[in-house]
Formats: sequence, C-alpha cells, structure tokens
Amino acid sequence: MDCVTLNNGVSMPILGFGVYQVPPEETERAVSQALEAGYRSIDTAAVYNNEEAVGRAIAASGIPRDDLFVTTKLWISDAGEGSARQAFERSMDKLGLETLDLYLVHQPFGDYYGSWRAMEKLYAERRIRAIGVSNFFPDRLIDLINHNEIVPAVDQVETHPFFQRVADQNFMDKLGVRIESWGPFAEGRNGLFTHPTLTAIGEAHGKSVAQVVLRWLIQRGVVVIPKSVRPERMRENIDVFDFNLSDAEMMDVTALETGKSQFLDHRDPEAAKFLSTLTLTNE
Ligand SMILES: NC(=O)c1ccc[n+]([C@@H]2O[C@H](COP(=O)([O-])OP(=O)(O)OC[C@H]3O[C@@H](n4cnc5c(N)ncnc54)[C@H](OP(=O)(O)O)[C@@H]3O)[C@@H](O)[C@H]2O)c1
Repeated sequence: MDCVTLNNGVSMPILGFGVYQVPPEETERAVSQALEAGYRSIDTAAVYNNEEAVGRAIAASGIPRDDLFVTTKLWISDAGEGSARQAFERSMDKLGLETLDLYLVHQPFGDYYGSWRAMEKLYAERRIRAIGVSNFFPDRLIDLINHNEIVPAVDQVETHPFFQRVADQNFMDKLGVRIESWGPFAEGRNGLFTHPTLTAIGEAHGKSVAQVVLRWLIQRGVVVIPKSVRPERMRENIDVFDFNLSDAEMMDVTALETGKSQFLDHRDPEAAKFLSTLTLTNE
C-alpha cells in the first residue's frame, strides 16, 4: 500500500476504507472483510454510530496494532475543550484502542477552537498520532491555523470528479495540510458510475469507473477512503496500484468539474443549521 507522510512525519495509507452509512449490525462483517481484502486504514466517526463494531473487527483480525491506521471524528454536540476530551475517551473505549492514529474535528461548527485545544493536549500526551479537521473551507482552515499551535495534518473534504477542490488542495499544500477525499464516488450521484468519459478511460485500462476515479485522486496526491459493503467491490477499490492515468486522461477527468457540491455547502447557513441539529444517539 502506498502511503503519504503527514506534516508531523506520520505515515498514512493513501487508500483506506470508509464506514459512513454502514449500519452498526453490518459494520463488523464489512470491516473484517475489508481487512481481509488488504485495507489497513479505517475511517469512522462518533456520529456514524459504528465505532464499537469497528473495534470488534480490529480486535478479531489479529493484525498488529502498528500495522493499522484508525481515524475517528468528534461530532459537533461534543465540541469544546472539556467535552472533546470526554468524547475522545468514549470513542477510544468503543474502538477498544489505547492510541488513535488520526482524530478529526468533524465539522467547522460549535466550539471547535476548544475542541482543537483538547486535541492538541491529547496529541502532546501521545494518545493521538495526528490531529486534523474535516469540512473546513480555506477561510476556516487558515483562521484555525493562525490562532493555534498545531497545524492540522489533514483536511477531509468532499472531493470527486464533479467537485475537485483543486484550488483548496493547492491552498492546503502550501500550509502542509494533506487533503483527504470523502465521497470519492460522490456516492454515485450525477451518474458517476456510468459516466461516458470515466467509462472510456476504464475500458482503455481494463479497469472499472470506480478504479479510474480512485486512481485519478491518488495521482493528485489525495488520500481516499471509499466505502462499500460488498467484498467484491472492496477488492476492486483497493486494486488501483497497477496502472497509471496519462496526463491526457487526467485532464479528461479535470473537465468534469461542476464547481459545486453534490451534497451540501458547509458555507450555507441552512447547512450549518441542519448539521447542528444532529446529536449523537449512542452517548
Ligand atoms: N467527513 C465527512 O463529513 C464525511 C462525509 C461523507 C463520507 N465520509 C467518509 O468518506 C467515506 C466514503 O464516502 P461515502 O461513503 O459517502 O461515499 P462513496 O465512497 O463516494 O460511495 C459509496 C457508494 O458507492 C458504492 N460503491 C462503492 N464501490 C463501488 C464500486 N466499485 N462500484 C459501484 N459502486 C460502488 C457503494 O455501494 P455498496 O456499499 O453497496 O457497494 C456506496 O453506495 C465514508 O464512508 C466516510 O468514511 C466523511
């Protein structure tokens, strides 16, 4: 597995397995199959309500802890210096882990400055190997950086062929923040899996649309965490290290940019209002 080096020297697999919208009762099986397929990086979140199942799959796998890279995220309702530390300990209990590889502020809402201070302390105590953010646009990212000690190692943002984030990636690169894609397939929206351009590129390489999309992101240096509950797709999505897209093919995908989210805009007040109404169900 190819890895990237984060701004604090920690190595992170460039491809991992995401478990958003995987029901808790399906998660242990899915993560076990992903680990069998060769995934070593797992991306969950407190708000996904499946950290315990992720933890069970990790424990059952017998894979040495040092060979795994585990990410979880702090939800808005736990924002703040004191609450964030408690939420971290709850996540760690559920995951059955002593140390976490990457802890992310899930959304740029609520008292995330307080959360960041708690995360900086947990990092200093070596409970977390790297800390980062998610869904931060450049304005919020630079403000967080300007007013705190630690520069986030990662910003996990919606990134796929229809919303490519090239300017945001350039901005992050200059700050030493690694871009990580959520929704690499846009969850199939906008006809992604049958798109003629992506299909044609796939046919030229004997690869699927999913593999073309992941390869395009990886060649841009974007960390990817595709989700699938199906073992055959898990194997397909990790099988992207034996081919290269040409410059012309990279540009063909670049031409698919729509400049807008397929989901929600974190700068939209209605989105901020909606996300802040979601509270954790499994405290
Ligand atoms: N930070 C955030 O706010 C945030 C938001 C969203 C997601 N995420 C993270 O990013 C991860 C990935 O994003 P996502 O789950 O939203 O969406 P995604 O990975 O873009 O798409 C997942 C969808 O694609 C299907 N799929 C997967 N592989 C396929 C293949 N090879 N061929 C055809 N269909 C395929 C899956 O169906 P099946 O499962 O039926 O195969 C599922 O419906 C999440 O799991 C989560 O860890 C983070």
